[in-house]
Parts: sequence; structure tokens; C-alpha cells
Amino acid sequence: MASPQNKRRAIAIVIALVVTAPLKAQTGGQNASTATTSAKDQARDGYVGDDACLRCHADAVASFHKTTHYLTSSEPSETSILGKFTSGNNTLKTANPGLYYRMDESRSDKGKPSFSVTAVEGDAPDTTSETEPIDVVIGSGEKGQTYLYWKGDRLFELPVSYWASLGWVNSPGYRDGYSDFDRAIIPRCLECHATYFKSQPPPFNRFDPVGYSLGIQCEVCHGPGREHVALEASKLARRPTSGTVPGSTSGILNPARFSRERQMDLCAWCHAGLGWSLQPAFSYRPGDELDKFIDLPPPGRYAPPDVHGNQVGLLEQSACYRSSNMTCLTCHDVHGTQHDVDYFSRKCLTCHKPHSATFSKPSHPATSNCVHCHMPRQHTNMIVFNSEGKRMTPEMRSHWIKIYPDIQASVANR
Ligand code: HEC
Ligand code: HEC
Ligand code: HEC
Ligand code: HEC
Ligand code: HEC
Ligand code: HEC
Ligand code: HEC
Repeated sequence: MASPQNKRRAIAIVIALVVTAPLKAQTGGQNASTATTSAKDQARDGYVGDDACLRCHADAVASFHKTTHYLTSSEPSETSILGKFTSGNNTLKTANPGLYYRMDESRSDKGKPSFSVTAVEGDAPDTTSETEPIDVVIGSGEKGQTYLYWKGDRLFELPVSYWASLGWVNSPGYRDGYSDFDRAIIPRCLECHATYFKSQPPPFNRFDPVGYSLGIQCEVCHGPGREHVALEASKLARRPTSGTVPGSTSGILNPARFSRERQMDLCAWCHAGLGWSLQPAFSYRPGDELDKFIDLPPPGRYAPPDVHGNQVGLLEQSACYRSSNMTCLTCHDVHGTQHDVDYFSRKCLTCHKPHSATFSKPSHPATSNCVHCHMPRQHTNMIVFNSEGKRMTPEMRSHWIKIYPDIQASVANR
């Protein structure tokens, strides 16, 4: 299966990030499906793609390719699209009895599958319909997926999304019962969810439909890899018997050696909210000062704090963060999948040793599940979607590590 599907997990999507733009005259462009690996690899100078790392970092690549970072965007396929196309499961009713959506899978003569969303309006037999293809899948599907389509070289959002707990739903932020195929995709959306898209002259949702690269790949966090690959390959050529070569490496960035601020910047690039872009999307490089590229609101401004998509802002308000050298890397290894709360609680205990100054009260519950009380799941109000009359707000893990009186009370009363 392309993606983990934990039904209990909350549903999440950024909605405020989609801008509605009028649909203008089409510009000619190639179809997305013509993108090839070589075209993608050459899209940016010095970038070589994950396959180039396989030879020497096979374990890291295999483990990373199971993470939601890597799976966060993909080409449409039977495995990457999690919504179902089988008859009986392929329609979405809306609050409007005169509008429903149908999701179809079809095959070309060569057997290549393609996928589409059709909005059917009116009462049979007097119905009209609009059909658009699913061309790009955004979201690992751990929580949900949103689908994009190309019109020439412009990218738009489809009105139907998939949510792990519900199946097909109205896309987040869309008005239930109104079909809308005109939401233009902003470059920042792709900057957070893909490795590269090459912007074209305005309007803002024009991209090169061939020179793009999906999934968050190694070089997003490590910078261009060509020099490193060439250097290491030449070392191997000189010493064919040894698999790895001792001594210094160069030509690639290792965030472990960044300052604390630059480490936080790397994660904040995508985990501190939308912000205001000061430079074109995809121009920030790991190790750069992020505030030259994106203007993010300072931590204090999150009142009330929102748990969606802003782990950085929340963590920065925590006493742990302010009184130590903590970064995201204190708890997370992004090369693998981590959901074991015991693992995270052991991270707490590296600083909060029982009976030490930072863990003063002997009456405090001695448990391995610190996260349950001090980093609870909370509802977010930033993501709202309406489906079949229900208004849903998903839950996210709060990264504001602190004492939550409500949670403590509910635990104490049990
Ligand atoms: C020809 C072999 C080879 C290839 C190909 C290769 N690497 Fe490496 N890489 C190494 C070796 C050897 C080291 C030294 C440390 C080690 O053994 O992990 C290293 C170290 C690294 C480091 C740590 C660098 C440091 O300064 O601490 C990173 C990050 C890295 N590689 C990423 C990548 C990425 C990303 C790719 C693909 C774009 C890649 N490597 C391709 C051999 C290779
Ligand atoms: C989301 C950001 C991110 C992505 C994507 C990423 N890395 Fe890393 N990588 C890091 C960070 C941060 C460090 C330093 C801290 C650490 O080791 O976790 C690191 C360290 C490394 C190191 C040196 C440390 C070690 O374990 O030897 C290697 C090698 C490496 N990464 C290879 C890769 C490869 C290969 C890929 C793609 C398959 C990849 N990374 C994808 C963030 C990332
Ligand atoms: C280029 C954008 C980008 C960067 C840089 C980035 N992330 Fe992410 N991260 C994402 C997106 C998007 C998701 C959600 C993926 C999905 O489920 O579709 C995510 C998901 C995650 C998750 C959830 C994983 C899971 O299994 O549920 C963790 C943890 C995480 N990121 C940590 C980090 C850390 C730590 C850093 C800094 C080293 C970092 N990320 C850098 C975009 C990014
Ligand atoms: C500032 C970076 C950023 C932007 C911009 C952004 N996202 Fe996200 N998105 C994330 C992160 C990070 C997550 C992981 C959940 C979280 O932390 O809220 C996520 C989660 C999601 C998910 C759920 C994935 C899953 O299964 O867990 C979907 C779907 C999604 N985003 C779609 C979009 C779309 C579509 C756009 C643009 C129209 C967009 N996002 C814009 C960062 C971003
Ligand atoms: C890198 C070290 C470090 C790690 C890891 C760490 N903390 Fe802390 N934490 C601190 C420090 C330092 C303080 C401040 C202590 C003080 O002010 O006396 C603190 C304070 C706290 C407080 C008091 C908060 C308040 O607002 O008064 C709680 C609760 C807490 N930590 C829980 C946790 C939990 C739970 C984890 C794991 C999820 C964790 N910490 C991980 C260093 C850490
Ligand atoms: C003190 C430990 C700790 C630190 C530091 C930390 N996290 Fe987390 N993170 C967790 C825990 C615990 C979870 C929940 C894991 C789970 O339940 O699967 C989590 C989950 C996440 C998720 C998935 C969100 C969700 O609700 O499912 C993302 C994204 C994430 N972290 C990003 C970050 C980023 C970015 C940073 C740095 C700003 C960071 N984390 C720092 C402990 C930490
Ligand atoms: C059942 C809920 C619960 C769990 C589980 C829990 N805590 Fe707490 N924690 C509390 C409450 C309530 C307080 C505030 C009252 C107090 O000080 O006893 C607190 C206070 C704290 C403080 C600040 C006060 C002090 O003791 O100095 C720290 C640090 C802390 N917890 C860390 C942890 C760590 C680390 C874990 C995991 C080993 C953990 N907590 C597990 C409920 C919990």
C-alpha cells in the first residue's frame, strides 16, 4: 500500500492556502504525464534525485521512502490515490440534491489508467457535467489527499478530496453543494509538498508541466547532490574493495552541523505556517536564513495557538524549548517513520530525569507516556470541511509542551 491508513488519526489540510482565481484563456502546455525521470533530474542545476543516492545509502533511501515526507505528493495511480473508484464507492453526494460528483478510472488502449472527477448538475435527464482529470496527488493520505489538475500549464485544485476516516469528501474549505473547479494552486503549496516545480511567468499558478519533481526527496534537506555523488564515486573508484571511505566528505549539506537557528529554519520552511513569501518559491536552501525568504509571524502572535501545521510556533512557546537547546531533531529522525509514544517519552526523560531540578515533584506520575498529558491532541479551527451537513475540525498533536489543566483533570477523574 502506498500510504499508511490509520483511521483514528485526525484529518488535516491547509485550507487558507488555496486562492481562488478566475479561469483565464488557456496557454498551450504539455500534459503532466509526459514528465520523465531525466527531465525531472535536469530541472535544476546540481540536483540528481533520490535514485542517485541508492548505490551508497540504500538503507536510508528505503526507510525514507516509507515516510509521509516522501509520499506527500505523487503521480496518480491505483496505489497512490486512496479514494475508491469501484461502483457504489465512487460517488459523493452534496448538500445540494442537484449536484453530485462521480470519480472514474479508465484505461487507454495501452492499458495505462487515468482518473477523473465529474460534477453532475441538474435533474436527470437534464443534467450538465464538467469532468477534469486527477493529474497530481497531494498528501500522503495518512490523514488525507487533495487532487490537482492541469489546464494547459496552469494547476488547479479539484473540488473532491479524500479523507482517511471518511473516503471522498468536499475539498476542505469548499462550500458544500457548489461545484468549483477554479481554485488556482499557489507555488507555496507545492514548495511544502514537493521537491520542485518550475514557475512560469504570471498568473501565479503557471508551472512547467514537465520540469517538476514530486515527493519531498533527499535534496530538499541536503541541497544539490551532484558534487557529493561525483566525489564519493571517484573515491570508490580509487578503492574498489571498501564499501565506504573513511575521512571527510564534502559537496553535500548535513543539517546536523547547522546552528540551532538554521536547523529550526529548515523545518520551519514547511512547519511554521504559510507566512508571506519574500522570494520566489523553491529559492530557499538548507542553511540559509529563512527570514530572508519567508516572513513568518513571531511565536507570540499565535493566540489562541493553532495546532495545525505550526509545530515550530508551538514548540517555541514551550518552557523546554526556551530553557534548553532543543530543536525538532531532539525528538524526530526524519529518515524513518515514528509513531511510538514511548520512544518520544524516553526523549523527555533525557532532560527530565526523575528527582532532578527539572522534574522536582516526587508525586508526579511516573509513567512512560509523558506525551499524553503534556503534548495532547487538540482540535484545530484552521481546517474546516463540510460534508453531508457535518462540520469537521481535525485533531493534531500539540507541540506546545506544558501543563494542560483540562487534560490533567480528565486523567485524574478516570
Ligand atoms: C558513491 C557513494 C555515495 C553516493 C552515490 C552518495 N553518497 Fe552520501 N555519503 C557517502 C559516504 C561514503 C559518506 C560518508 C559518511 C557515511 O559513510 O555515511 C556520505 C555522507 C553523506 C552525508 C553526510 C555528509 C556530512 O558531511 O556529514 C549526507 C547528508 C549524504 N551522504 C547524502 C547523500 C545524498 C542525499 C545522496 C544522493 C543525492 C548521496 N549522499 C549519494 C557516499 C555516497
Ligand atoms: C526532511 C529533511 C530531510 C530529508 C528529506 C532527508 N534528510 Fe538526511 N538528514 C536530515 C537531518 C536534519 C540530518 C541531521 C540529523 C540527523 O542525522 O537526523 C540528516 C542527516 C543525514 C545523513 C548523515 C547522518 C547519518 O545518519 O549518517 C545522511 C547520510 C543522510 N541524512 C542521508 C539522507 C538521504 C540519503 C536522504 C534521502 C533518502 C535524506 N537524508 C533525506 C534531514 C533530511
Ligand atoms: C519541504 C517541506 C518540508 C520540510 C523542509 C520539512 N517537512 Fe516535515 N512534513 C512536510 C509535509 C508536507 C508533511 C506532511 C506529509 C503528508 O502526510 O502528506 C510533513 C510531515 C512531517 C512529520 C509527520 C510524519 C508522520 O509520520 O506523520 C514530521 C514528524 C515532520 N514532518 C518533521 C519534520 C522535521 C523535523 C523537519 C526538519 C528537519 C521537517 N519535517 C522538514 C513538509 C516538510
Ligand atoms: C507552509 C507549508 C504548507 C503549505 C503552503 C501547504 N501545506 Fe499541506 N501540509 C503541510 C504540513 C506540514 C502538513 C502535515 C500536517 C500538519 O502539520 O498540519 C500538511 C498536510 C496536508 C495534507 C494532509 C496530508 C496527510 O495525509 O497527512 C494535505 C492533503 C495537504 N496538506 C494539502 C495541501 C494543499 C492542497 C496545499 C496547497 C493548496 C497545501 N497543503 C499547502 C504543509 C503545507
Ligand atoms: C532538551 C531538554 C528537554 C527535553 C528533551 C524536554 N524538556 Fe521539558 N523542559 C526542559 C527544561 C530545561 C524546562 C524548564 C525547566 C525549568 O524552567 O525549571 C522544561 C520544562 C517542562 C515542563 C514545565 C512546563 C511549564 O510550562 O512550566 C513540562 C511539563 C515539560 N518540560 C515536559 C516535557 C515533556 C513531556 C517532554 C517530552 C515530550 C519534555 N519536557 C522534553 C527541557 C527539556
Ligand atoms: C519533545 C519531543 C518533540 C519535539 C522537540 C518535536 N516533536 Fe514533533 N512530535 C512529537 C510527538 C510525540 C509526536 C506525535 C507522534 C505520534 O503520535 O505519532 C509528534 C508529531 C509530529 C508531527 C505529526 C503531527 C500530527 O499531529 O500527527 C509533525 C508534523 C511534527 N511532529 C513536526 C515537528 C517539528 C517540525 C518539530 C520542530 C518544530 C517537532 N515536531 C519537534 C514530539 C516532538
Ligand atoms: C497523567 C498525566 C501526566 C503524565 C502522564 C505526565 N505528567 Fe508531567 N505533569 C502532570 C501534571 C498534572 C503536572 C503539574 C502538577 C505537578 O507538578 O505535579 C505535571 C508537571 C510536570 C513538570 C513540571 C513540574 C515538575 O515536576 O517539576 C514536568 C517537567 C513534567 N510534568 C514532565 C513529565 C514527564 C517527563 C512525563 C513522562 C515521564 C510526564 N510529565 C508525564 C501530569 C502528567
